[in-house]
Amino acid sequence: MSTTPAAAPAPGPVPTPLARAAAVPVPPADSLAGRFPLTPNPSAADDAARARALRDLHFGSVFTDHMAHARWTRDGGWGEHGIIPFGNLSLSPAAAVLHYGQEIFEGIKAYRHDDGGVWTFRPRYNAARLAASARRLALPELPEEDFIASLVDLVRADEAWVPDGEGQSLYLRPYAFASEAFLGVHAADAVEYYVIASPCGAYFPHGLQPISIWVTREYHRAGRGGTGAAKTGGNYASSLLPQQEAAAQGCDQVCFLDDVTQANLEELGGMNIMVVNADGTVRTPRLTGTILEGSTRSAIITLLADAGREVVEDTISLEGLLSDIASGAVTEVFACGTAAVVVPLGRLKGEGFDVSIDGREVTRHIHDRLTSIQYGRAEDPHGWMYRLV
Ligand code: COI
Repeated sequence: MSTTPAAAPAPGPVPTPLARAAAVPVPPADSLAGRFPLTPNPSAADDAARARALRDLHFGSVFTDHMAHARWTRDGGWGEHGIIPFGNLSLSPAAAVLHYGQEIFEGIKAYRHDDGGVWTFRPRYNAARLAASARRLALPELPEEDFIASLVDLVRADEAWVPDGEGQSLYLRPYAFASEAFLGVHAADAVEYYVIASPCGAYFPHGLQPISIWVTREYHRAGRGGTGAAKTGGNYASSLLPQQEAAAQGCDQVCFLDDVTQANLEELGGMNIMVVNADGTVRTPRLTGTILEGSTRSAIITLLADAGREVVEDTISLEGLLSDIASGAVTEVFACGTAAVVVPLGRLKGEGFDVSIDGREVTRHIHDRLTSIQYGRAEDPHGWMYRLV
C-alpha cells in the first residue's frame, strides 16, 4: 500500500461498549466444550456426499449435519442445551415470530488454518452484539460463554464440514426467536436459540470484483429509535424491495441514506461502508443508532489505525461524496461485513447521478490484511482469533 505513511500507528479508535465487551478474554474452547451435548445425526452425510456438497461452494445454500439448540422459558430460564441433527423445525403456526418478527441473529465464520486447526474471529463481539440485539427486541440474553460454547460444540461436531479452499469458511448463523404460541402482542414467554452452519465461498460470485450500488432516496433502512442498530430480521426484510429496485437499476446492492436529513450515507442492506480519501485518511458513517455496528467494520478501523491511517467516524453526505469523487478527493469506496468480507464499490448510481470509482489499492490491502489474520497467515496483534478445534 504505497500511500500508507510509514508513521507510527494513528491514535486508535475510542472503543465502543461492544468493542470493550469483545476484548474480555474468552476461556479456552476445551473448558467451554460440552455445554451443548451431542445427539449424533443418524443420517449424517458420508464422506462422498460431503465431498460433493463442498465441491462448488457459494454462500448460504449448503448446511452441515447438526445444529445447536437451547430453549428459554420465562419461568425456567435457559434449559435444554444440545447439538442435535440438522432438520426442519416443528413450530406452532401461532408462534409469535411468524406474526410479529421477534427475532435476532448473528453471522460469524470458522476458518480452517494451514495446520488443520479451526479458528473463529472475535466471538465475544458477536456474543455481546446478540445480547444487545436481544435487549432491543425484548428477548432473553443468552450468556456470552454459552453463545461461544454453542459455536465450539457445533464446530467440533461438524468439523469435517469446515472447507479449506481459498476464501472458504464455515459460516455460522446463530439466531433466536419467539416460539410462544400466542397472538397477543407481548414479549414471548418461550424462545428458541439455534446455530446452523453453512460451508461457504465468496458472498459475491466474483470475489473482489467491484460491485455497483443504487442509492435509494425512496426507502430507508431504519429510523431514529428503531431497530437499525440491532441485528434483527425485520431490517433485512425491509431492505428487500429497495434491493429489487437496485436490481432493476442494474445494480448489485442498495445503499440507504438516513431518514431524518435524507442526505447522509448509512449502510448497504447487509454491509457497512468505508470511504478512502486521496490524503490517505478513511471515513465511515458514524454510529447513530440506525447503523449496525459491524464486527468487520470495527476490525478494519483498528487495522487502518495500525497502518498509520486516520479513520474518522463521521457524517458522510451523498452530495459531498459525489463531489469528492468528481474532484479526486475520494479515491476508493468499499463495503465490509462478515459474509461479504471486503468488496470494492465500483459504481454509485441514483436519481440524477451515475459515477464510477476506480481506486482499489487500500481496499485490496485491507481485504488481504484482515483475511491473512483470519486464516492464520499473519500475526494476530489484537488477539482476535479464537481456536475452536
Ligand atoms: C453477515 O455479514 O454475516 C450478515 O449477517 C449479513 C447478511 C445479510 C448475510
